[in-house]
Amino acid sequence: MATIAIFNQKGGVGKTTTCLNLTAGLTRAQRCPVVIDLDPQAHMTLASGIHEVRQEESVVAFFKSGKPLAQLVRQAQAGWEIVPATLELAKIDVMLGNDAKAGSLLRNGLSEELTLTGAPILIDCCPMLGVLTLNALLAADRVLIPVSADFLSLQGVHRLEVALNVLESRLKRKIERRVVVTRFDARRKLAFEIFDKVRERYGNLVCNTRISENVSLATSPMHGKDIFNFAPASPGAADYKALTLELLKSGFFD
Ligand SMILES: Nc1ncnc2c1ncn2[C@@H]1O[C@H](COP(=O)(O)OP(=O)(O)O)[C@@H](O)[C@H]1O
Ligand SMILES: [Mg+2]
Repeated sequence: MATIAIFNQKGGVGKTTTCLNLTAGLTRAQRCPVVIDLDPQAHMTLASGIHEVRQEESVVAFFKSGKPLAQLVRQAQAGWEIVPATLELAKIDVMLGNDAKAGSLLRNGLSEELTLTGAPILIDCCPMLGVLTLNALLAADRVLIPVSADFLSLQGVHRLEVALNVLESRLKRKIERRVVVTRFDARRKLAFEIFDKVRERYGNLVCNTRISENVSLATSPMHGKDIFNFAPASPGAADYKALTLELLKSGFFD
């Protein structure tokens, strides 16, 4: 079963929203994933309904003292499993920064245990290109890149490609990627123009499913809920269901 990093070094493009609702979609499709929250902001942890995590119960303990991931996994109310993050994760980059082996910690940790359960693993990345992201990309079989349908996001896509190319040469392998366009506002001509530009660049690596701008998607995490629990009849729920099925059908999680 695959390990997927949800990555874009730009913030606010929908990484966590996509991680949350893809996780929920997979759970509903009986493919219960394990999530690893690698963002010190811990939004994925909070949106999973998990609060007041102590540092030693979080993914920080894995990086800091080698605590096995299996001992850190928590059950979210909605059914998936998650290794939670805390704010202290922000210090890990500085702590491990100069260690040559620091980038492969997660890959080694995962190969020892979680993968044995056969569940797909989703990693919510932070918007930086530090040690945490390197860990995510080294551990991942594939990368899902959310690109939001606005002008600045399109500008960021070029920098993203440069970053991925640098990482590929460092990893000495190709990073298999798919792109999903998020925050798509069909009332704006610009949104269609951006979708076309993303397609021009990435061709059939772009998911057919676009995620619309939808207020329920923005509101659900505040309630510690995914979109299917919070607003099952919303356009956001329909979009993330379609994305889950599209990716499942193409073998993205296999
Ligand atoms: N499709 C969407 N419709 C409306 N709001 C969205 C959508 N996707 C994300 N958001 C909101 O945009 C902000 C950034 O999204 P988030 O998923 O946290 O991005 P990232 O993880 O890339 O920083 C959040 O407030 C989120 O609720
Ligand atoms: Mg995020």
